[in-house]
Order: sequence, then structure tokens, then C-alpha cells
Amino acid sequence: MGNRLQGKVAIITGGARGIGEAHVRLFAAEGAKVVVTDILDKEGEATVADVKAAGGDAVFMHHDVTKEADWARVAADTVKQYGGLTTVVNNAGFANLKGVEEETLEGFNAIVAVCQTGVWLGMKAAMPALKKSGNGAIVNISSLYGIIGTPSMISYHGAKGAVRLMTKSAALEYARQGVRVNSVHPGIIETPLAKTLPAEYLETISETTPMGRMGKPIDIATMSLFLCSDEAGFITGSEFVVDGGWGAQ
Ligand SMILES: NC(=O)c1ccc[n+]([C@@H]2O[C@H](COP(=O)([O-])OP(=O)(O)OC[C@H]3O[C@@H](n4cnc5c(N)ncnc54)[C@H](O)[C@@H]3O)[C@@H](O)[C@H]2O)c1
Repeated sequence: MGNRLQGKVAIITGGARGIGEAHVRLFAAEGAKVVVTDILDKEGEATVADVKAAGGDAVFMHHDVTKEADWARVAADTVKQYGGLTTVVNNAGFANLKGVEEETLEGFNAIVAVCQTGVWLGMKAAMPALKKSGNGAIVNISSLYGIIGTPSMISYHGAKGAVRLMTKSAALEYARQGVRVNSVHPGIIETPLAKTLPAEYLETISETTPMGRMGKPIDIATMSLFLCSDEAGFITGSEFVVDGGWGAQ
């Protein structure tokens, strides 16, 4: 156990599995009290049980990030449970592999609702408590695909690109109000989400990644850990790519 997040209270959305789960385990191990939120109750509860067994402090709350009322309840219950809120990782998200003509309005809206609207709702709901903390931090998990384009993910590119600029806008708005806001942009990472993509797609990305492999969820969590810790006290409105060199090409 470390202490880089001692005294922090963190909400991590989509914390039941994948990149979010790695955040939960790492943040708790570094001393944060962690509110794990997700629509997957069983997996979220199991993650919390593991954290507690390892000596950490965490609680699970059912939470659909697209619902404003869920956000209000999670923010209020976090403050009730832990006495405040210092940190939010807006991580929940999903993708599909649809191009411009193949995508449906329903599919487009569903991705935007979780990946983009959910991030804004999270910043909005958490901001009063973050400001009150005097030392708040938000990390929005975008994607390398929020910076570069590929031919077949129109909705995801749009939503993740929006997260990148919403992050900068919020960072500027709150720069003198004690809340830092940054975005993290993973390349391809081995998670349940990645496993829903076709095997040949994953192989091509791994092969064309300069480091020759997919990343691990912990590779993203360690970046967020730094950004949410006081070590990053002068960093706001910035974007951090963690992609094995892929975006450098
Ligand atoms: N895996 C990758 O290669 C990769 C690359 C770049 C960015 N990302 C981003 O990282 C984040 C985490 O992805 P992951 O790969 O760990 O995926 P994952 O599917 O393994 O985990 C995502 C979690 O978000 C939850 N979630 C989905 N919709 C939700 C909603 N409406 N409300 C609350 N929770 C919801 C899921 O239940 C799941 O537990 C996502 O934002 C994703 O876009 C992933």
C-alpha cells in the first residue's frame, strides 16, 4: 500500500471491470477512498470485495452515467459516506466499429450518451463538491481515437474527440477554483471491451503499435494516478496519450 492518494475520495465510473477496475484497485492501494460505479452490479460488488480484502476502502454504487438523477444520487451519497469528494475518473464507455453509412442514429446516440454526455454530466454533478474540497481533480478517459481518426468508428471518434475539448473547456473554467481537469488517451488496451472487437482488427493494431503489443489496464491507471495526485498540482487542461507509441507514427 502506498500513500500517493491519501486523503482523496474518488468516484470511478465503469469501475467494475477493465480500465476502470484497474483504477479502483490502484487508487485504493494508494490510500484513496473509492466509490466504484457501474451498471454491472455483480462485477462492481466483486471488485469492491477484493479491494476490502486487500485492506482498502471502497463502496459500490449502481450508476448509469447517462442519467442525471443517478449522478445526483452518486455525488450526494459519496459526500454522505466519505465526508467530501476530491477526485472523479470519468471512465465508463463503449465502442462499435461502424462507419458513416453503417452507423444508425440509435447507435450513434447510445455512444454519445455514455462517452460524451456521461462525462459532462459527471463534471457537472461533481463540481460543487470538488470546488469545496479546494483541491479537486477530474480525469476524463478519452482515447487515442479522440485525437486521430480511423475509417470505421464514426460515433466513437466524435464522442471521444468531444471529451478532449470538453476537458480543456472545463479546465479553463475552473482553473482558479481549485479543480484540475485533464484527459487520458489510451491506445489499444486488453480489456473486455477490446475483446468485443474482431480478432484480426486487434492483431493489426498490435502489430502496427511500435511497442508490438496491446497495453494493460494498469498502464492507464498509473497515468490517472499521477494526474489525480498532488504531484500533478500544476497540470490542467492537458491530454496524455498512453499508447505504446502508436499515435507518434
Ligand atoms: N480498451 C481499449 O482499447 C480502450 C482504448 C481507448 C479508450 N478506452 C476507453 O476506456 C474506457 C474503459 O474501457 P474498457 O476497455 O475498460 O471497457 P470495458 O467494457 O472493459 O469497461 C467499461 C465499463 O464501463 C461500464 N459502462 C458502460 N456503459 C455504462 C453506463 N451507461 N453507465 C455506467 N457504466 C457503464 C461497463 O459496464 C464496464 O464495466 C472507456 O471509456 C473506453 O472508451 C478503451
